[in-house]
Amino acid sequence: MSTSERLQIAILGGTGNVGRGLALRWAHAGHDVRVGSRSAEKAAQACSELNAQLECDAVRSGSNREVAAAAPIVVLSVPYAAQRATVEEVRDLLEGKILIDTTVPLVPPKVARVQLPNGGSAVAAIQELLGSAVKVVSAFQNVSAHLLLELKHEVDCDVLVCGDDVAARETVIGLIADIGLRGVHAGPIANSAAAEALTSLLISINARYKVPGAGIRITGLQNP
Ligand SMILES: NC(=O)c1ccc[n+]([C@@H]2O[C@H](COP(=O)([O-])OP(=O)(O)OC[C@H]3O[C@@H](n4cnc5c(N)ncnc54)[C@H](OP(=O)(O)O)[C@@H]3O)[C@@H](O)[C@H]2O)c1
Repeated sequence: MSTSERLQIAILGGTGNVGRGLALRWAHAGHDVRVGSRSAEKAAQACSELNAQLECDAVRSGSNREVAAAAPIVVLSVPYAAQRATVEEVRDLLEGKILIDTTVPLVPPKVARVQLPNGGSAVAAIQELLGSAVKVVSAFQNVSAHLLLELKHEVDCDVLVCGDDVAARETVIGLIADIGLRGVHAGPIANSAAAEALTSLLISINARYKVPGAGIRITGLQNP
């Protein structure tokens, strides 16, 4: 089910691969998107490149704190090593909001090997850090940024969506539908560990089959 309203979405680390890909697609779908960065200048540069690609001024920019303050839906798309520090930096701005966390706890250089942190899920650890005042939803771990960035091409995969708040998951599934993908309810935030682990399998599959973006499909669903 797509969202019927125009939503405000802030992307922390919006200058990166996943962040730019999501910004591009959500802005193209008509949402009000702001890309954030540690550097407002870097965000402005990414923003102007995205707007050039979109051929309109649909995307805005700011520091991570500025964009987080301005939107009820905040996306976290930074490397695992920066995940907790980035959340800590905007923590006071997240109360009552949905935080969509795309983090995969890869441990370079062996990124094709599952190496989940102690306790399991990197995203569940953020829900634990923030408490129930913030609805953390895990999504996009198994979607190649490379594919998201190619606006003209459909992305051929499903998106596993985990979170303790079912209504927040539903909102995120609507946003996923808006960019032409199918989001699937995949249970509570603890289940994010499975999605995070799957990414290393996909990286391994990409290397073995020499493809840029293997993805996953859930079969057997009639009314997901
Ligand atoms: N790449 C993929 O295909 C893919 C797919 C699914 C999920 N993921 C996951 O999604 C997340 C983002 O992936 P990505 O490929 O977009 O990452 P990325 O391009 O390497 O980095 C994203 C942004 O994070 C910020 N950043 C980098 N180092 C930082 C640090 N030390 N402290 C604070 N911010 C820092 C940078 O923004 P500023 O310099 O502008 O602040 C950067 O542009 C990761 O957790 C990744 O595992 C990636």
